[in-house]
Amino acid sequence: MFLEKIELVSFRNYIRLSVQPHRELNFITGRNARGKTNFLEAVFFAGSGASFRHNDRNMIRWGEDYARVEAVFGLTGGVVTVKAEIQSEGGKKLLVDGAGGGRRQLPGRFGIVLFRPDDLQIIKGSPSQRRDFIDNDLGLIEPLYRDALTKYRRVLFQRNNLLRTVRENSVGAMQVWNEQFYRYGAQLLLMRMRLLKKFFPLVCQSYLDIAGDGEKIEMKYLSTVKLSGEKAVEQIIKDFAAEGKAREREELYKKQTVVGPHRDDMVFYLDGKDVRQFGSQGQIRSLVLALKAAQMHMFHRETGEQPILLLDDVLMELDAARQQYLMHNIIGGGRQTFVTSATGIENFCRQKGKIYLVDGYGMKEV
Ligand SMILES: Nc1ncnc2c1ncn2[C@@H]1O[C@H](COP(=O)(O)OP(=O)(O)OP(=O)(O)O)[C@@H](O)[C@H]1O
Ligand SMILES: [Mg+2]
Repeated sequence: MFLEKIELVSFRNYIRLSVQPHRELNFITGRNARGKTNFLEAVFFAGSGASFRHNDRNMIRWGEDYARVEAVFGLTGGVVTVKAEIQSEGGKKLLVDGAGGGRRQLPGRFGIVLFRPDDLQIIKGSPSQRRDFIDNDLGLIEPLYRDALTKYRRVLFQRNNLLRTVRENSVGAMQVWNEQFYRYGAQLLLMRMRLLKKFFPLVCQSYLDIAGDGEKIEMKYLSTVKLSGEKAVEQIIKDFAAEGKAREREELYKKQTVVGPHRDDMVFYLDGKDVRQFGSQGQIRSLVLALKAAQMHMFHRETGEQPILLLDDVLMELDAARQQYLMHNIIGGGRQTFVTSATGIENFCRQKGKIYLVDGYGMKEV
């Protein structure tokens, strides 16, 4: 899929802006704090219905009542128009081809691959950041995964509420929620494992392409449920229930659910060593790049559509070899890419595409 046209009204530093980007490469440059990342955020918002920064309301230009983005996306099946608006009182309007229906209807909900310096946290950060990557960046490609996640989160929320109110010695009180909890948890766990089974080989291949031969890369999903080998949902439910039973007192004491996919993690090993603990900066960067490349390939394979790539400030952070990889293997290949950087225009001058300069007010093609 690709963005044919985008119009911004009262969005961050932009009063009004209209851009028809290049079908392949768009390089966005300008001094710091001029609106490069803001523009990528507008593209992401139009495609996914939310900001990639903290709070959707912050997208509204200071002093205004709303921020609006209108976009036209081209997909293999035809053109989709999106009108997305955030209001200062907290309301949000999303119209896809003129009709409501929320984020689910958006064409880019899953088809925008964003890569920014913060993404190093997928490796270095807490387990929740890795789970968010699985749930939000990979899982959402599959409608069934999305449904399983929603159901699980709902029952987890209710179970945690109950844990907060029951007395410590009231073992048995949790029975009401347990059956559903184990079932939904097992379904989610099984789907995650299936997803990662498809994803991991793509990461290995991409890592090999980036780092060259030499290092052996492995990935493992760490489940809080001890699985007894057989990966069928009924068996996982039993394993889950056994683990839950064993830790019931701990849960009553801590007043929270400690077993389940919401506490799981994934680890990456290079030559047998945990990257999070022993990886060099360069290895971590290569690995994150490999995750993003794999995400991109997986989206294409699962949907038949190419994702739109947003690369915010990452190019200059990479050494020459990884820049080469990015320029030759990630940028191009029939995908539409938006690259921001304050420097490095010389890398793009001879490429087919458009170069934009942002100055704090607008964005013009140079
Ligand atoms: N809601 C808002 N309304 C108006 N201006 C805003 C709003 N939010 C942010 N800005 C302005 O946008 C600027 C940041 O823009 P942006 O993050 O796009 O910079 P950038 O060009 O990506 O810079 P860098 O090269 O440092 O990453 C802020 O310094 C601020 O002046
Ligand atoms: Mg920026």
